[in-house]
Amino acid sequence: MMYSPLLIVAAAILQHFTPCAAVINGTQTDLYRQRAQSLLEQMTWKEKIGQLGGYRRLLEADATFNRTRFDELYPTQNGNLGYGSAFNWASDVVPIANRIKQRQIDESRLHIPFVTVTDSNNGIYISGGTIFPSNLGMAASFNLPLFEQAIAVIREEQRAIGVNWVLSPPLDVTSEPRYGRIGEDFGEDAYLVGEFGKTYVLTMEEKGEGGFVKVATTMKHYVYGETSGGVNLASQYGGINHIYNDQLRPYIKVIEEAKPLSIMASYSSVDRLPMHKNRYMFQDILRQKLGFEGLIMTDANGIWQMHNQMYAASSLQDAAVQAVHAGIEMELCPPSEPTVCGMPTLLNAINGSAVLQRDIDQAVLAFLEIKFRTGLFDQSLPDPQKLNSTLRLPQSLEIAREMSREAIAMLQNDGLLPKTPGRVALIGPFGNILNSGSYAAVNSSDARYGDSLHRSMKNAFGSGKVSFTQGCDFIDTDDDSGIQDAVAAAKDAGFAVVALGSLSVSPSDPLFLKRTDGEFFAHADLGFPGLQQQLLDAVLDVGVPTVLVVSGGQPFVLNPSAMRANAIFHTFLSGEFTGDAVVELITGKVNPSGKLTVSMPQYSGAIPIAYDLLPSDQGYDQAGLTANNISAAWQFPNLTRSVPMPFGYGLSYTTFKFSNPTVSSNNQTSCITVNVSLNNTGDVFGKEVVQVYYRPIYTPDIEFPVKSLVRFEKVGLEPGQSQDVHFVIARRELGYWVNTELTSPPGPYTFWIGSSSRVEDLHAVNVTLPMWTA
Ligand SMILES: *[C@@H]1O[C@H](CO)[C@@H](O)[C@H](O)[C@H]1NC(C)=O
Ligand SMILES: *[C@@H]1O[C@H](CO)[C@@H](O)[C@H](O)[C@H]1NC(C)=O
Ligand SMILES: *[C@@H]1O[C@H](CO)[C@@H](O)[C@H](O)[C@H]1NC(C)=O
Ligand SMILES: *[C@@H]1O[C@H](CO)[C@@H](O)[C@H](O)[C@H]1NC(C)=O
Ligand SMILES: *[C@@H]1O[C@H](CO)[C@@H](O)[C@H](O)[C@H]1NC(C)=O
Ligand SMILES: *[C@@H]1O[C@H](CO)[C@@H](O)[C@H](O)[C@H]1NC(C)=O
Ligand SMILES: *[C@@H]1O[C@H](CO)[C@@H](O)[C@H](O)[C@H]1NC(C)=O
Ligand SMILES: *[C@@H]1O[C@H](CO)[C@@H](O)[C@H](O)[C@H]1NC(C)=O
Ligand SMILES: *[C@@H]1O[C@H](CO)[C@@H](O)[C@H](O)[C@H]1NC(C)=O
Ligand SMILES: *[C@@H]1O[C@H](CO)[C@@H](O)[C@H](O)[C@H]1NC(C)=O
Ligand SMILES: *[C@@H]1O[C@H](CO)[C@@H](O)[C@H](O)[C@H]1NC(C)=O
Repeated sequence: MMYSPLLIVAAAILQHFTPCAAVINGTQTDLYRQRAQSLLEQMTWKEKIGQLGGYRRLLEADATFNRTRFDELYPTQNGNLGYGSAFNWASDVVPIANRIKQRQIDESRLHIPFVTVTDSNNGIYISGGTIFPSNLGMAASFNLPLFEQAIAVIREEQRAIGVNWVLSPPLDVTSEPRYGRIGEDFGEDAYLVGEFGKTYVLTMEEKGEGGFVKVATTMKHYVYGETSGGVNLASQYGGINHIYNDQLRPYIKVIEEAKPLSIMASYSSVDRLPMHKNRYMFQDILRQKLGFEGLIMTDANGIWQMHNQMYAASSLQDAAVQAVHAGIEMELCPPSEPTVCGMPTLLNAINGSAVLQRDIDQAVLAFLEIKFRTGLFDQSLPDPQKLNSTLRLPQSLEIAREMSREAIAMLQNDGLLPKTPGRVALIGPFGNILNSGSYAAVNSSDARYGDSLHRSMKNAFGSGKVSFTQGCDFIDTDDDSGIQDAVAAAKDAGFAVVALGSLSVSPSDPLFLKRTDGEFFAHADLGFPGLQQQLLDAVLDVGVPTVLVVSGGQPFVLNPSAMRANAIFHTFLSGEFTGDAVVELITGKVNPSGKLTVSMPQYSGAIPIAYDLLPSDQGYDQAGLTANNISAAWQFPNLTRSVPMPFGYGLSYTTFKFSNPTVSSNNQTSCITVNVSLNNTGDVFGKEVVQVYYRPIYTPDIEFPVKSLVRFEKVGLEPGQSQDVHFVIARRELGYWVNTELTSPPGPYTFWIGSSSRVEDLHAVNVTLPMWTA
């Protein structure tokens, strides 16, 4: 990789403009680069090409190693080593992985170690680790210190199983609710995504003994999240102002403040140019403008896709040549099928192309550098005997439990809760499984991966007090016979908990064929799949107190019928303690404190509904800066653009009062101070998320969202207790990009401070800001 002086200067300038934030020095020792360079000089063409690919499925589903297949692929794909099936246990995988890795170190000509690069969503991606909620749930906690603890647990568990590089954090801004991978993401607001992403990278890439990065991270997917129709792989449109202000904001923050070691290309073509060969987005924007110095990798089969799905390359080799020329430096190519991997096709493409040789050298250098930085050449392999002293430690499980409690949002409560019911009818397909996401090492039907709501309720209330009736299937069927059983159970118990949602489980899960959410899914309808709404309606018609518990990595339409439920929780994609947490929240042992990071739409077609839409997106309703009440936008009977449960929304059993909001600007330091006093005016302990939004009242150049989040902090208060909350915001954080340049106009601004993005939950304060130049 070339590090031009220009890039280093650009990075230094960016830092200079962050007077209120921590300044992180960009200059890193180039010792690793020197070692990588001297290794590169000894490598043959075949060895170089081999590094850029890998063997992605070490073990089959039954934990067996297929040596024939390994020996076939190894000569041309030997840079990284993936572990394969998530349902193999760490105690089985690590000894075998170690043997393969040790043999590579001992016997390969240059002794270049494998690196294990894996997904890392709810935890490690083989069985035996601590299972956290997926990112959408963890973000709903709005609790960055707790998130940092969770990621530190995952980091140590990854290291214990020999993983030094993860395919996270996802920085996709999820303003398209039909997209099936929202559960893996942090939410619809770019600032929030950036904060979680930054915390993730700084925690994972912490330096350990010897100054080695503990676990390298991968920002993904550059750029994505808003594909047409929410379809996985699909194209997206948008000019450079949209890309910068809506999609790149998290990347810009994370690159500047955390310097992650790698980034993954998205499957999209952006403005028709496939990202995997988008030299403009990689070289001109990512490297030159944003100063990114890490490695650029493909998404799985991204090179193959350019030829076979997009028809934007005439052969696999043509696609590979274009990819490396654009700046791709490593290929992820599961499931290790040689016919879909692009890099090996370059083995016979060397002749006559100095450009290709230079591109490949640069790629191999970048890849080796990460191997050096993460200590693979210098540290020994993890000891399988020590798995038990790292995985699932009591303190790790406690952090996961706390995260599950805070990762659930209470969306409605008419006063029924908190309540410890005498008898409960638990109803619905999600009552007795774990719904954790398509990249979670969780068997939805196996109690070893966590307690379902049914098991947790039986533990808490006594098994004689809880009945379970599935009522209907996860997906469409003709069989509605279970609904009458559910109605009878609700009548009999006099208290119903209905567990509905959208299924997202990993490959080889017993329910895999019934999934409706996760990678490869788009949601034509944001209601509940199959007969679930019918089941809910029938139970609600009974008229007994009813709690609706929603599960899935997506926003759902809660129609007027569903809203009849006395109380509603969204649990997103669950960690292993989600069942227990729901019981604790229902009974009031724990006070709910999660908040939505994706707005809940009124109708499937009534999108976009992200809270931070542009003023013109409100249609004719110019009644102030109130994003969520647009009567003229849709004329379907009774349909307004009102989003009753937008971003930042979530209820508590106590009440909070915000008072004395002030915003002041210090012209000398270009810093803005926001103060507010928060008081718990109810009678139980609770946690509230103080949220600060803003907008320049007029923007002289391009449109700016009706409001935009700029700070949040979660505060826990005893009844009657109050706390002053204080934020310092650098002026550049109020800026936006016009044709790739940051600007922040002088003049009047409105700041809103409160408990959600809803107008009625916010206090507005106007302030005039002076001239500012980047
Ligand atoms: C950054 O580097 C400068 C110059 O080498 C040094 O003076 C400063 O202390 C460093 N700051 C941090 C936060 O490491
Ligand atoms: C092992 O891999 C070889 C080569 O790909 C394949 O032909 C064979 O079926 C595999 N064996 C098993 C048991 O899956
Ligand atoms: C490149 O050169 C090698 C060795 O001369 C030859 O075997 C190979 O077929 C050539 N490949 C192409 C694509 O021309
Ligand atoms: C780790 O713990 C498991 C479960 O308690 C036990 O079966 C296994 O033998 C332990 N392994 C080692 C290496 O101590
Ligand atoms: C998942 O768990 C169920 C229930 O214990 C079991 O029957 C099934 O074999 C498991 N599936 C896998 C792939 O481990
Ligand atoms: C929002 O819509 C409701 C229902 O149409 C209306 O009563 C209310 O005045 C509107 N509020 C604003 C701020 O426009
Ligand atoms: C619209 O609202 C009115 C008044 O609440 C109600 O009578 C009517 O049924 C609603 N129409 C539809 C299509 O929901
Ligand atoms: C805001 O709070 C800080 C820290 O408590 C204090 O120094 C500052 O004077 C306050 N500003 C205003 C305008 O109240
Ligand atoms: C907080 O609110 C409670 C209840 O309204 C009140 O008694 C108390 O004085 C308030 N505390 C402060 C510091 O304002
Ligand atoms: C802030 O300024 C806008 C535009 O002048 C005005 O409509 C609004 O009422 C002001 N808000 C406050 C809280 O002063
Ligand atoms: C800050 O600058 C603005 C505009 O330049 C000016 O009106 C205001 O008086 C200044 N405030 C302070 C505290 O210097």
